[in-house]
Amino acid sequence: MKIVIYLSAILFIFSIFYSGGVNAQCSGSPNPYPIYTEAAVLVNTSSHGKLYVTGPSDNLVNILNVYGTAYQRGFAHGSLMKAQVDNVYADFFGFITEMVNELVKKYADYLPLEFVDLIEKAGIGAALDLTAVLTKDFTPQHFFDEMQGLADGSGIPYKTVLRLHMFPELIKAACSMIGAWGGATANSGLLQLRALDFNPEAPLRYHPVVIVSHPTDGGNTFSSLAWAGFIGTMTGYSQRTAICEKYWFAYNGTSSRSGTPWHFLLRDILQYDSSIDDALNRIYNAHRTCSIYVGLGSNTTNDFRAVEYSHQVVRVFDDQTPFPAFAPQPAAHPLIPEVVYIDKHVQPSNDACLSSVLQKQHGAINVQTYIDITGLAETGDLHAAVYDFTANQMYVSVASQDPSVIPIIPAYQRQFLQIDLEYFFNESFE
Ligand SMILES: *[C@@H]1O[C@H](CO)[C@@H](O)[C@H](O)[C@H]1NC(C)=O
Ligand SMILES: *[C@@H]1O[C@H](CO)[C@@H](O)[C@H](O)[C@H]1NC(C)=O
Ligand SMILES: *[C@@H]1O[C@H](CO)[C@@H](O)[C@H](O)[C@H]1NC(C)=O
Ligand SMILES: *[C@@H]1O[C@H](CO)[C@@H](O)[C@H](O)[C@H]1NC(C)=O
Repeated sequence: MKIVIYLSAILFIFSIFYSGGVNAQCSGSPNPYPIYTEAAVLVNTSSHGKLYVTGPSDNLVNILNVYGTAYQRGFAHGSLMKAQVDNVYADFFGFITEMVNELVKKYADYLPLEFVDLIEKAGIGAALDLTAVLTKDFTPQHFFDEMQGLADGSGIPYKTVLRLHMFPELIKAACSMIGAWGGATANSGLLQLRALDFNPEAPLRYHPVVIVSHPTDGGNTFSSLAWAGFIGTMTGYSQRTAICEKYWFAYNGTSSRSGTPWHFLLRDILQYDSSIDDALNRIYNAHRTCSIYVGLGSNTTNDFRAVEYSHQVVRVFDDQTPFPAFAPQPAAHPLIPEVVYIDKHVQPSNDACLSSVLQKQHGAINVQTYIDITGLAETGDLHAAVYDFTANQMYVSVASQDPSVIPIIPAYQRQFLQIDLEYFFNESFE
């Protein structure tokens, strides 16, 4: 009897190790939930939009399909999500004001130094307005049209909408990214992970939305995981291209406040570019402002690059390029064939969690591997998304939304929801 118990205990422990349930290199544990796969439910329509919702009742994510010109798409967003947009905007400026006031004590990690000065002298509203002035000439008109539509559809003043959209220029978000393809993945297709680590207290979390844009004024159909009232892209996928982003803390060059907001530039990649080369050309030729890492995947070449993106330099990393530049290759960040990855820490990173899981799963990496990695590496507190290029699907997870749930549950500990982009990209407006 004793022996049987003993043996089954050994088997149990063995099975945990075998299933990847324990990883000595990682601080966290795999995401405990199965993927939510039920179909989204249509909740409202307007002249240029359809609003769906998906997920269990305590983990609802909106899926907003918008059609037409930039203005019409913005208007549909504002009118179909008016209540949610109001809710996010009502708390957002208070939140960033507090963030700035508490800067030194609590939020120093989230704001770049060059802005601290300006904010201290002039206040957050002035800093956002100045950012709007300095980026205006480098921002394509369609973004202004869409923000105007959003303002008119929701009833929020245009100036306030513009201010909120200047906010990403002021932040530093930690984040992780991975691209794996070919011999690294179970089906040889490209799989991309984007985990956004940015203060989950941000009121943005109240109303997460996957916006599927169907432009009639140029460009591809594309999707962004964002928040009600925000049209920039921090996380997004068009099947042709997909992007990830992370703040580049160790950048030692100069920055500029004058140029294209990075979250607009990344969105234009999704809307207009069909390959990594197109996206790199866009990046090389842009007036760049902040220093970030960008992750670029594309179905045309079925691979992925990481990019050091900054005002002064652009450097591109594939699976053969030691990362980051100028540092001796860190033991914790080995080159892995057909995998490019950056963990949530300041680079170069001494944390072996990502590399150990990716090496162990090499050849068998699938959607679940990435979902587990978010939990194991405790990355993606505000949201996380996996893009499966082969099946044309997105899997998203978001932080707990209900303000009364304290502490906030980070996205990497919540259930991932399947978003059927094969369906939504193809859906016409009828
Ligand atoms: C549906 O959307 C329209 C705007 O197009 C809005 O006026 C209406 O209140 C919405 N209905 C519901 C039930 O949210
Ligand atoms: C940063 O530092 C390296 C040397 O460590 C230098 O070669 C490089 O030009 C610097 N500037 C930028 C913008 O990378
Ligand atoms: C990439 O995706 C687009 C959009 O679905 C499709 O038209 C194209 O054929 C795909 N390219 C490759 C090489 O799979
Ligand atoms: C896409 O739409 C077309 C025409 O509406 C339809 O025939 C086709 O089955 C759709 N494909 C998917 C994957 O839904």
